[in-house]
Amino acid sequence: MTAAASETTRRLGAAADPSLLDPAERMGADELRGVQLERLQWSLRHAYDNVPHYRAAFDAAGVHPDDCRELADLAKFPTTSKLDLRDNYPFGMFAVPQDQVRRIHASSGTTGRPTVVGYTERDIDTWAGVMARSIRAAGGRAGDKLHNAYGYGLFTGGLGAHYGAEKLGCTVIPISGGMTPRQVQLITDFAPRIIMVTPSYMLTVIDEMEKQGIDPRSTSLEIGIFGAEPWTEQMRQEMEERLDIEAIDIYGLSEVMGPGVAQECVETKDGLHVWEDHFYPEIIDPVSGEVLPEGEKGELVFTSLTKEAMPVIRYRTRDLTRLLPGTARPGMRRMEKVTGRTDDMIILRGVNVFPTQIEEIVLRTPGLSPHFALELTTRGRMDHLTVQIEARPDCPSDRRDGAAREVQKAVKDTVGTSVDVVVVDPETLARSVGKLQRLHDLRKRS
Ligand code: DLL
Repeated sequence: MTAAASETTRRLGAAADPSLLDPAERMGADELRGVQLERLQWSLRHAYDNVPHYRAAFDAAGVHPDDCRELADLAKFPTTSKLDLRDNYPFGMFAVPQDQVRRIHASSGTTGRPTVVGYTERDIDTWAGVMARSIRAAGGRAGDKLHNAYGYGLFTGGLGAHYGAEKLGCTVIPISGGMTPRQVQLITDFAPRIIMVTPSYMLTVIDEMEKQGIDPRSTSLEIGIFGAEPWTEQMRQEMEERLDIEAIDIYGLSEVMGPGVAQECVETKDGLHVWEDHFYPEIIDPVSGEVLPEGEKGELVFTSLTKEAMPVIRYRTRDLTRLLPGTARPGMRRMEKVTGRTDDMIILRGVNVFPTQIEEIVLRTPGLSPHFALELTTRGRMDHLTVQIEARPDCPSDRRDGAAREVQKAVKDTVGTSVDVVVVDPETLARSVGKLQRLHDLRKRS
């Protein structure tokens, strides 16, 4: 990191001004556990009393909200999946009358019905509160200008970040995603200090700056709050270097709230603190469903503690991570950066491959850009993965074959499977304006 960036870290870490923190961020673990238990008991009862799906699921499992006497009792309750939300499409999971639902969001999903979520006025306020807290943890302050390039609309990214930034006291530039040359113009003209955007779209914007002859390091940006898709430490390095900013991770999902469920702190950048006063995390074995001890990797499960319109009880996120003790916020646990989902894992001839493993390798290979795509095909009866990677514009053409061979070898050595690697010309692969779809599954289905 550059001297300017580390100066930002020093200046903006919570330690620099703990009085800015919310009371919950200053709680010790014991006090927080007390708050969580009380809220959990409320949330279980609220779901049971008002959502037929939860009443039926709890009854079928032989549990009742009164059975929750300590936090560990939550494990007795059934989990909830995306399928349950789809089966109750559109509003069957809502726990309040429609006239109390102030807003609806939905995630499109790749197939079938969208997943619909709802918010009461208080939910929107809670969400803005955790988002404001998240932006502050990333180093944002009242008075900052914030360029919000998360998509506005049914996706929770745009409006979620917007309300949080306003609540913190920032000046929001609600540009949404797309119109990349305009993004660059407004960054140059309006001089924002913070940008919120998916990491893959940030790369597209950086490329556009370079195309326009603007040095990305020369802009006013000091902080990037990147999320909505997995990204690696290598990608952090790439963006911090190319933009001269602090690149900070934000996590969330619509079913649980939207962005702002967990947030990395600028002073530690060591995983994301879960805002545990509102969202209770567990890690389970994705196959057996058993709760795993702290520190073990598995599927992240969330229970909402304060949500009114659409409480979620033990919602299976499909995201793979582990829980770790708190650091910058000692009372709240961290989740390790999410590097994959149970459903974006490619099982290639019996070996599990995550796109982030490929990202790590690509980014540490000289001559290669961060733009790559994965293509799954069938050859004979075998699945085959081809990795297409754009060369960096300054990569000599006689370096390309060597770079491809290095990636191929590194994938074989670290992931344990053979893939084809093709290095292609700069600017030939599709760019994202929001979440990037890296994997193209062209396998023949029989
Ligand atoms: O992506 C909410 C969001 C918006 C988060 C803006 C951060 C910033 P969904 O569209 O419901 O909601 O998608 C949720 O995206 O289960 C993860 O698989 C993935 N995801 C979100 N944040 C991260 C992250 C929003 N920081 C799904 N790292 C989640 C890795 C992430 N994956």
